[in-house]
Amino acid sequence: MVKYILILLVGVIKLALGDPIPIVLWHGMGDACCLPFSLGPFKTFLEKEIPGVYVLSLKIGNSIAEDIEHGYFMSPNKQVAYVCRTLTSDPNLKNGFNAIGFSQGGQFLRAVVQRCGHKIPPLKNLITLGGQHQGVYGLPNCGALKHKSCDYLRYLLNYAAYYDWMQNWLVQATYWHDPLNEDLYKKKSAFLADINNELSVNKTYIRNLNKLEHFVMVKFDNDTIVQPGATEWFGFYVPGQAKKIQNLEQSDIFLKGRLGLRKMKMQSKLVFLSTPGNHLQFSEEWFITNIVKPYLLT
Ligand SMILES: *[C@@H]1O[C@H](CO)[C@@H](O)[C@H](O)[C@H]1NC(C)=O
Ligand SMILES: *[C@@H]1O[C@H](CO)[C@@H](O)[C@H](O)[C@H]1NC(C)=O
Repeated sequence: MVKYILILLVGVIKLALGDPIPIVLWHGMGDACCLPFSLGPFKTFLEKEIPGVYVLSLKIGNSIAEDIEHGYFMSPNKQVAYVCRTLTSDPNLKNGFNAIGFSQGGQFLRAVVQRCGHKIPPLKNLITLGGQHQGVYGLPNCGALKHKSCDYLRYLLNYAAYYDWMQNWLVQATYWHDPLNEDLYKKKSAFLADINNELSVNKTYIRNLNKLEHFVMVKFDNDTIVQPGATEWFGFYVPGQAKKIQNLEQSDIFLKGRLGLRKMKMQSKLVFLSTPGNHLQFSEEWFITNIVKPYLLT
């Protein structure tokens, strides 16, 4: 008897509190192969912290091998369209969800919001961990590694990133942002320049992005993978050179209203967080205090 009353009680409490808001995860490039962690344990961690939560870890393709390969070689535009369809057709997400993007998964999720925000269920909080919102200029660990092929790749990218075949072939070329060649970047970047409304302004992007309750950007203070680190907070090099950094508020994207970020800032929708450590390295404790409690449990 007592057992049934308890079960009933738990049911009533659950009903009163409502089910936790589902969470969608998009991993970074080479996850499951080269990054310090892959998303399996992270999903388990979330499920432990938020009992009953539905977590969808996006897989682009039919197998883990395909998923990893796509992280390098499937055009982000196709990946974004694929994810839009996945999110629209998942019945567990129909009442809305939160999303966490790891590394390049961060800017890809932002693209999903901007391009399909009017089709997918409402996305409440978008959290990007070490995302490259203004692209990158430099290769992971190249400074530290001093590896021959690394230098060769950088050389290749400096010259070839904006060739159409490269844009169609290597995912990372689509957010290569050469500050010495802003015009070329704007014209040729097959993904990022479009998502950042660099050439023309797509008002749907602005409207959809503004539907977010919060756009949380997490920067890793000691990141050696992403150059410049400021891109994780939507900053970048001052155009025309590759040393001096400008933050979001000093950029054309902000000042010329290309994405409506000034309005979002005034609405307190933009959140800038930082944590010590290298790319995607954070403690569970930090994550619970700064992300789970304020953004995933409400
Ligand atoms: C603006 O973005 C929407 C959503 O992705 C798209 O349907 C539309 O074609 C775009 N408009 C222009 C002018 O590119
Ligand atoms: C990490 O970055 C912070 C902030 O820039 C800096 O104060 C600290 O010395 C760095 N730590 C290491 C180990 O590089």
